[in-house]
Amino acid sequence: MSVVTITRDAEIAVVTVNNPPVNALSQSLRQGLWDAAEALDADPEVRAVVLICDGRTFIAGADVAEFGKPPVPPHLPDLVGRIEAAEKPWVAAIHGSALGGGFEIALGCRFRLAQPDASVGLPEVTLGIIPGASGTVRTPRLVGMQAAVDLVTTGKPVRAAAAQSLGLIDAVVTGDLRDEAIAFARAALRRPLPQPVSQRPVDAPDAAFWAAAEAKVAKAARGAAAPLRALASLRNAAEKPFEEAMAFERQCFLDLRGTPEAAALRAVFFAERAAPRPAHLKDLTVLPLRQVGVVGGGTMGAGIAAALRDAGLPVVLIERDAAAVARGLANLRAIFEGAVTRGRLSEAQAAERMAGVIASTDYAALADADLVIEAVFEEISVKRAVFDALGRVCRPDAILATNTSYLDPQLIAEGVPYPGRFIGLHFFSPANVMKLLEIVPLPGTAPATLATSFHLARLLKKVPVEAGICEGFIGNRILKRYRAAAEALVRQGVAIAEIDAAMRGYGFAMGPFEAQDLGGLDIAYLQREGARAAGQEVPETLGDVLVRAGRKGQKTAGGWYDYAANDRKPRPSPAVTALLGPLVAAPREMPREAVAEHLVQEMAAEGRALLQEGIARSPSDIDLVEIHGYGFPRRRGGPMFATAAARR
Ligand code: 3HC
Ligand code: NAI
Repeated sequence: MSVVTITRDAEIAVVTVNNPPVNALSQSLRQGLWDAAEALDADPEVRAVVLICDGRTFIAGADVAEFGKPPVPPHLPDLVGRIEAAEKPWVAAIHGSALGGGFEIALGCRFRLAQPDASVGLPEVTLGIIPGASGTVRTPRLVGMQAAVDLVTTGKPVRAAAAQSLGLIDAVVTGDLRDEAIAFARAALRRPLPQPVSQRPVDAPDAAFWAAAEAKVAKAARGAAAPLRALASLRNAAEKPFEEAMAFERQCFLDLRGTPEAAALRAVFFAERAAPRPAHLKDLTVLPLRQVGVVGGGTMGAGIAAALRDAGLPVVLIERDAAAVARGLANLRAIFEGAVTRGRLSEAQAAERMAGVIASTDYAALADADLVIEAVFEEISVKRAVFDALGRVCRPDAILATNTSYLDPQLIAEGVPYPGRFIGLHFFSPANVMKLLEIVPLPGTAPATLATSFHLARLLKKVPVEAGICEGFIGNRILKRYRAAAEALVRQGVAIAEIDAAMRGYGFAMGPFEAQDLGGLDIAYLQREGARAAGQEVPETLGDVLVRAGRKGQKTAGGWYDYAANDRKPRPSPAVTALLGPLVAAPREMPREAVAEHLVQEMAAEGRALLQEGIARSPSDIDLVEIHGYGFPRRRGGPMFATAAARR
């Protein structure tokens, strides 16, 4: 079937795009639209054109899969220009998402209509590129420069109502989209037409505007190239004639498309899309998830319960006594109240989230749960007691999951009846925010349990990665290696603050030592002490020295750094220098790039070990873990991508 079909409703032509899955602008679609514009201009009976899409969305953008290949005509900027220059006005009828090149096509149309749940945007910077078909040149002509800067440099899509108030779209329509668009086109023909967007005047902000915008964009970009190039292109659009600005934009787009940064972001884009639906689970049955139990309402339990409620799932929260039930509910309420304060939820939505939670000390409340996630203290005896109780009250087909970070799930599962339903679901803190979910099947886990865990991840909009069993699974094992390698550099005389600065320079929000100060050094310390008590050989770390001296991080006013009261700024610590002095070599200069490269290589080496051991299934899974669980800079593609790219 053709990707573009033309039908008629009297004098209105309807051009329908059908290029599954997301109507991306492949060469055949570009050609199809070009031919439609030619044919309709030549048809004297046609007076206006509605552009509408079949399937789940309007045109979702350029075909990202074509980015590695030479561009083939008709080029997208020409197509947008062709539609704009059509003798009959085109009306874009948007459902789903009009993103990137899809929105640029809509910018070429004389009018844009959208359904209330549709969104529009220019997400190119998230792919390491800038809009390549007039997004930076037409958008400011449509909505002014400030709105264009926000839209293009953040890449964040805007929902229909907000898009209408900005002027990105002309109307939000609730009825049948095709009928509404035809009626709109017909009505529009009775009024003078607005100017094509390219012919509208553009704001000319002063130098102070650009200086402020540049400072803001540079800060948010944290070293990424595309947002600043997008800003330069927007400025060009304000200061140069249309054609010149278009040529500049196209050149920036083509330059960026071939950069390692864009290649990395594309790889992450496709990995994220593949992750929720692994090929090896394709044909497996998924069990229904109608009600979910959470045992433990502490940091993780409350976060997990919040994530479940955000996805609309009813939750039963179990705690050990009445006071703990009250604390668990208070933790949950605090999460939703925080969302209200930040404008993410209305009061009514927060109340509705809470209303969907039953909290109890009585495990019998879990009799109907389809899945129960345990998030109690990290202690084998406590966890075993919980699963003992779950084994007695839950349905035999209810999935039972542990959120343990370091314990062996096989030991936790011992004695659980119907062990095929047992699995590890390792959420990250805060569990309602962090996208990563490590899914840890046991040797006896049933395929349906595993498949349903991925289904859960899809419901929660998480990025799921399957991990095998080892201490720390994928992420915490790499973290351990990373921290050990960073400590080794300190022992060799590299300054703590230099190592943190190197990793920030690489793109992390924080370096390894500042991050430990924020999270607390004591958790890993206690874990090492536990292993030592159990007779394991665990060498003394520099972190152990600090914790023994009472330096547990920001919460004790000092860890790797000192902190002034009510100030999170890390200050190099003479006390730490004195404490570690006997263990550290003479100060040594190491270029920051070399520090970062070394530490990323160490992460990748651990990643390769995980692959060899069968703990991780693919390099891209490891990259997703690092990006979504540990703040690895997305634009580097993850440690496996970054080090493989360096070898290419
Ligand atoms: N190119 C190629 N393939 C794409 C694609 C694109 N732009 N967008 C999505 N896909 C593919 C996905 O890889 C996935 O493939 P799979 O089924 O084989 O795994 C499939 O389409 C479905 O994607 P999702 O799972 O993401 O579907 P959803 O329904 O959850 O989301 C969406 C739909 C909101 C449109 C989302 O896919 C999305 O955000 N896509 C990216 C949009 C984008 O970034 N567009 C800008 C591209 S750059 C550009 O246009 C440059 C221009 O200025 C010149
Ligand atoms: P927490 O101490 O904040 O919460 C534990 C909760 O479990 C407490 O509210 C406690 O009252 C409750 N509890 C204890 N015994 C119980 C029982 N028998 N029945 C019902 N409730 C009981 O601990 P946190 O941080 O939430 O950790 C929970 C689990 O999640 C641990 O296994 C931990 O390793 C894991 N985890 C923690 C992460 C974190 O960053 N805090 C990240 C990922 C996993």
